[in-house]
Amino acid sequence: MSSIITTKDMLKKAQKGKYAIGAFNVENMEFVQAVVQAATELKSPVIIQTSVSTLKYATSNLFKAMVSACISDTDIPVAIHIDHGNSFDSIMSAIKGGYKSVMFDGSLLPYIENVKRTTEIVKICHHLGVTVEAELGAIAGKKDAPQDSKLLYTNPDTALDFVEKTQCDCLAVAIGSCHGIYKAIPNLDYERLKEIRHKVSVPLVLHGASGLTSEQIQSCICNGICKVNVCTELRQAWTKATFDYQSLNPEVFDPKAAGEVARRAIVDIVKEKMKIFGSVNKAYD
Ligand code: G3H
Ligand code: ZN
Repeated sequence: MSSIITTKDMLKKAQKGKYAIGAFNVENMEFVQAVVQAATELKSPVIIQTSVSTLKYATSNLFKAMVSACISDTDIPVAIHIDHGNSFDSIMSAIKGGYKSVMFDGSLLPYIENVKRTTEIVKICHHLGVTVEAELGAIAGKKDAPQDSKLLYTNPDTALDFVEKTQCDCLAVAIGSCHGIYKAIPNLDYERLKEIRHKVSVPLVLHGASGLTSEQIQSCICNGICKVNVCTELRQAWTKATFDYQSLNPEVFDPKAAGEVARRAIVDIVKEKMKIFGSVNKAYD
């Protein structure tokens, strides 16, 4: 039986082994079941994460309970993580609900303010045994993020200063990836990533992985990425599977019928991603 762990050791192991852990955004019970099933079948460590809006829709208590129930008959390493936590309160409420890993996203704050608030959160979280991901630079695609984030790519020297000052456990970097659906072919700045890797020793995190090719993701992993976040592709798969099912079977009104098809679609995507990330068979290393 697995228990929920922090992301710290699994990311350190991934860094050493030069692979990445998939961090999959879940939206409901079937997503949780699918991610755990994929990880169990492939013997892969996994991070199950929820956004702030998903925690508003349900609660951290509910997601923690679902994850705990789903991992009761498996022994793979599983962490639950709040993604893009944007306030002290959202982070503390996830921790109260049983999360042992959090992201504080202060990327749109002035640099000094991002350092200050991240440092405060890291201090409290470390006291509670909770791992902290922070963000420097701004990843495009979110509602309030800048349209042209090129100006806000992570600066390698600033990254070093930021990690030293805040003592965060891992760092989300802006290198040209984008949240949501790509409107143009993504052009990732591997040179910048390499430079950040040379300066900073904590595991690095790639956001906005939906829509990137396996080659792009693997180049990022070769250059220091140890956690890869996937959300949009899972949401799209869920929506398409349920829509297609109901369109073909308009007489069916049991939500479990479409739910089962959609859950299978999520299992397939998560397994495909784990193979790309190189985390298969790493559960017991
Ligand atoms: O924080 C979540 C991710 O960065 C997911 O990005 O929706 O493009 O897969 P995505
Ligand atoms: Zn993100």
